[in-house]
Amino acid sequence: MGLKQPGHLRGHKTTVVFFALMVTLTGADGLLEVSPVGPSRVNALAGSRVTLSVSFSGAPDPVVLWSIGSLPVVTWTIGSADRPDVADAHADVLELEEDGSLSLVGVPLSYSHNYTVEITKSGLGVARTHFILKVYEHLQNASITPDPALAVEGLVVFSLRSSVQRGEVERRRWFLEGAEIRSNSSHYSLREEQLLIRQLRRGDAGRYSLQLLNALSEVEVHFNLTVLSQGGNYTCQLRNEKSGARRTVSISVPIYDRPLGDPACSVLATTNNDLQYRCQWPGGVPKPSLAFLSLSSNASAAAGDLHLTLAPSEDLDWKTVVCRGQHPLLTSSCNVTARQPVEFLPRVGVGVGSDGRMAVTIACVSHAVPDAVVTWLREGGQAVTSGNQHQISANTTLLTVRHFNVSEFLRDRFTCTCANPLGHKARTTRLLGPSISESSLLPNLEGTAVTLTWEVPPLSLVTGFDIQMRGPALDPTIGRSSEFRSLEFRSIQVKPGSARSAGILNLDPKSTYHFRVVPSAGRTVGEPSKQQRIGPGTGLSGAAIAGIAAGIPCSILALFTFTALLYLSVSYCKNTALYSSLYPFTHPSNPLLIPLALYSSL
Ligand SMILES: *[C@@H]1O[C@H](CO)[C@@H](O)[C@H](O)[C@H]1NC(C)=O
Ligand SMILES: *[C@@H]1O[C@H](CO)[C@@H](O)[C@H](O)[C@H]1NC(C)=O
Ligand SMILES: *[C@@H]1O[C@H](CO)[C@@H](O)[C@H](O)[C@H]1NC(C)=O
Ligand SMILES: *[C@@H]1O[C@H](CO)[C@@H](O)[C@H](O)[C@H]1NC(C)=O
Ligand SMILES: *[C@@H]1O[C@H](CO)[C@@H](O)[C@H](O)[C@H]1NC(C)=O
Ligand SMILES: *[C@@H]1O[C@H](CO)[C@@H](O)[C@H](O)[C@H]1NC(C)=O
Ligand SMILES: *[C@@H]1O[C@H](CO)[C@@H](O)[C@H](O)[C@H]1NC(C)=O
Ligand SMILES: *[C@@H]1O[C@H](CO)[C@@H](O)[C@H](O)[C@H]1NC(C)=O
Ligand SMILES: *[C@@H]1O[C@H](CO)[C@@H](O)[C@H](O)[C@H]1NC(C)=O
Repeated sequence: MGLKQPGHLRGHKTTVVFFALMVTLTGADGLLEVSPVGPSRVNALAGSRVTLSVSFSGAPDPVVLWSIGSLPVVTWTIGSADRPDVADAHADVLELEEDGSLSLVGVPLSYSHNYTVEITKSGLGVARTHFILKVYEHLQNASITPDPALAVEGLVVFSLRSSVQRGEVERRRWFLEGAEIRSNSSHYSLREEQLLIRQLRRGDAGRYSLQLLNALSEVEVHFNLTVLSQGGNYTCQLRNEKSGARRTVSISVPIYDRPLGDPACSVLATTNNDLQYRCQWPGGVPKPSLAFLSLSSNASAAAGDLHLTLAPSEDLDWKTVVCRGQHPLLTSSCNVTARQPVEFLPRVGVGVGSDGRMAVTIACVSHAVPDAVVTWLREGGQAVTSGNQHQISANTTLLTVRHFNVSEFLRDRFTCTCANPLGHKARTTRLLGPSISESSLLPNLEGTAVTLTWEVPPLSLVTGFDIQMRGPALDPTIGRSSEFRSLEFRSIQVKPGSARSAGILNLDPKSTYHFRVVPSAGRTVGEPSKQQRIGPGTGLSGAAIAGIAAGIPCSILALFTFTALLYLSVSYCKNTALYSSLYPFTHPSNPLLIPLALYSSL
């Protein structure tokens, strides 16, 4: 039945009297004007005082005439000593203000109307403006009545009718369990004050709410709809016309409704670190009966929702527990397998926050049933607590650490332990600076493009990569021959921390190029990757080429030394003083001294 609830005030609107008397003395050729001060549509609460405020200009002391509809009700000459002339029938309600505005005192509902104010000045003409006044009462004593009173499943049309004992309803909104019933579907129709439900179903049962609104108030009423299950006991009476004998037979007609979907099995860890097996199968008439098979205590049977709490034991690890649900219309089952956390590898992600700090996220995810809870320790066994620098995600699997400087991350060590009632696994993580574990180069057939790929160690912090090249310019307009910088590595592409490959185009198949990848984390730059070479010819590796390049000055030195030794031996043979012959090579100002010394030490 309807729950009656008093209305409440939504917005008490009192129109303020504006003494904005805007009389302008503009002389005989002024234009006479009158206009509302504020909106021309005015809502008022019944019994309150409301003022229809006007301002006029163009002439002093004009004659004012107020009409309700087409009926004149008040006249006055502004500023005159006489009292305004108010129609007798309205004298209790209407009051004229000094500026010509009209006040309604204790305004009754019946004063909802169109109002016109007209100002007249002899020799100047007439000006007028309009108001629409709407008087409301608070909505009170709203209720919902079902029709028919008993909501029986299968009814062709069932309706909920709303009523209020006081107040004009401008808008109605119906809700079922908080969700608005909007459209005129084939199932629902919204009429003036009714909600019609066609082909009433059990699913229509629930809490209906109705919101009633007008400009100044709002009320809400509720109605709990119960749809009756058509099943029950039917009695049949038989009477023999001739003998008058009677027999009565009672039969019970069960009406079944299947439960929703299939049963759902789950297992949770309790706060005591026990395992709670659960089996749920909602809905259905009658409720389905549920039982766990293959568990030592299978006596348990329940309607719709079954729990069984067991102490963890090795037997339960990887044991599939089956729940069987039985209902007159069908039988269905589900199963769940609890298992301890498996071995895992922590994973690391790096980002840069808006404050410029690097945010490193360490993920410790170990598959387990029930889900593993992760605990985090810092070096020295100190527990990590969430704060400004460290944050642990709500599900405990992610630890986010924030620092400005990469070296701060590399100092600490984190241990994560993934545990559930059946066991635990732990891992210790020491983060690595930006580094590259391996790289490779794949050219196309023509030798004009290459794909460079690389890998990063799992715990390395990397926010970006610099792809560097040594060789002729890639842009042919600069000229392939301009090899002035070709001996140095130069940056040709920048890649984000997630990248693991880069494509390089416009290579000259007749030239030789070297590539390498330089990892970085924030402003910290890591060791470059191994060099990768592409080009025609000997197929010498980068190292070999470096060897040859280093070899050339050595050969020159060897030749030079050989010449020098030859000269010395010749001098010695000629019995020339050793000191004077060595002098050119040992004089401090002679730059050849250092290379020579180096060569000797090789
Ligand atoms: C009031 O005036 C409006 C137009 O301004 C008109 O539509 C409405 O019917 C009038 N109402 C009454 C009660 O005269
Ligand atoms: C609203 O209900 C209350 C009590 O239920 C009653 O006292 C009051 O008179 C009712 N108001 C109207 C307008 O019927
Ligand atoms: C729903 O349809 C009925 C007629 O079938 C109509 O009177 C009513 O205004 C409609 N309501 C809405 C909200 O569209
Ligand atoms: C309707 O049901 C709700 C719970 O669903 C309950 O709190 C409320 O009191 C019921 N209202 C009526 C009028 O029975
Ligand atoms: C039908 O009758 C049986 C036995 O007479 C009784 O137990 C049961 O409650 C009745 N059911 C209804 C819906 O009245
Ligand atoms: C559990 O059920 C199975 C088969 O339904 C039965 O063999 C076993 O004895 C039952 N165990 C207990 C403890 O009732
Ligand atoms: C457990 O359920 C899955 C599907 O939910 C099914 O494929 C499997 O056969 C079931 N296992 C047992 C032991 O009942
Ligand atoms: C844990 O929460 C994070 C977000 O806070 C989410 O990205 C992650 O997938 C969740 N992990 C698990 C195992 O639920
Ligand atoms: C990072 O911190 C170390 C020592 O804490 C300091 O030596 C180094 O200069 C810092 N680097 C940057 C880029 O701030």
